[in-house]
Amino acid sequence: MNTPSGTDTETEIDTGSEARTMDEQHWEDMYGGREQVFSGNPNGVLVAEVTGLPPGQALDVGCGEGADALWLARHGWLVTAVDISRTALRRAARTGADLADRVAWAYADLEAAPPPAGAFDLVSAHYFPLRRRPGHTALRGLLAAVAPGGTLLFVGHDLADLPPRGDGAPDPADYYQPGEVAGLLGDDWTVLADETRPRAAPAPPGTHHTHDTVLRARRIR
Ligand SMILES: C[S@@+](CC[C@H](N)C(=O)[O-])C[C@H]1O[C@@H](n2cnc3c(N)ncnc32)[C@H](O)[C@@H]1O
Repeated sequence: MNTPSGTDTETEIDTGSEARTMDEQHWEDMYGGREQVFSGNPNGVLVAEVTGLPPGQALDVGCGEGADALWLARHGWLVTAVDISRTALRRAARTGADLADRVAWAYADLEAAPPPAGAFDLVSAHYFPLRRRPGHTALRGLLAAVAPGGTLLFVGHDLADLPPRGDGAPDPADYYQPGEVAGLLGDDWTVLADETRPRAAPAPPGTHHTHDTVLRARRIR
């Protein structure tokens, strides 16, 4: 994974041996099916929590169409923005062409390949679907990416907002929730926020999301 310094719009890294083709296909189908999926605005929690932090190296985990990464870059951060969808990465890079020297768009499956350890002053994961695994290997890889003194922002949808699950739909309870991540952090961290709060923006069309679950933590060593 490259840090943002060149003009490449998409960087490829080793995705490891655990191929998860169906998952990648799911996201490719979602992005490929529409010209634009998300609003293009940065997430409200990102803006609220990061404003005032001194800029440094940031990792945007599951960056999608790139609105958060581009907001960070415009606010002085050097951003590595990772996603499993090449369509989303291409779209994001096109939108942020003027910021190519501040954002490295990187293709990776973050369930299979961890980001570089200790490399980021901010690791931001907004609505990133990370499946719970024994040993928490992928989650621990994301946590390890935060440098000492750095910030973890792990944000999800409040499960209480979700309608009853249809047959065969993924079970949100199979995925890490911010509160659960807070419980796994251990002594190297200070938890600064672990709460449910109303979304700053209205629910995206067709969804029921009125509240976010928010974990903000600082790595102390
Ligand atoms: C719900 S979207 C959120 C996108 C963006 N963070 C936002 O808030 O608009 C989740 C994103 O995570 C990406 N993703 C899902 N699984 C991934 C994985 N294993 N590795 C990297 N990216 C993944 C998807 O392609 C998608 O862009």
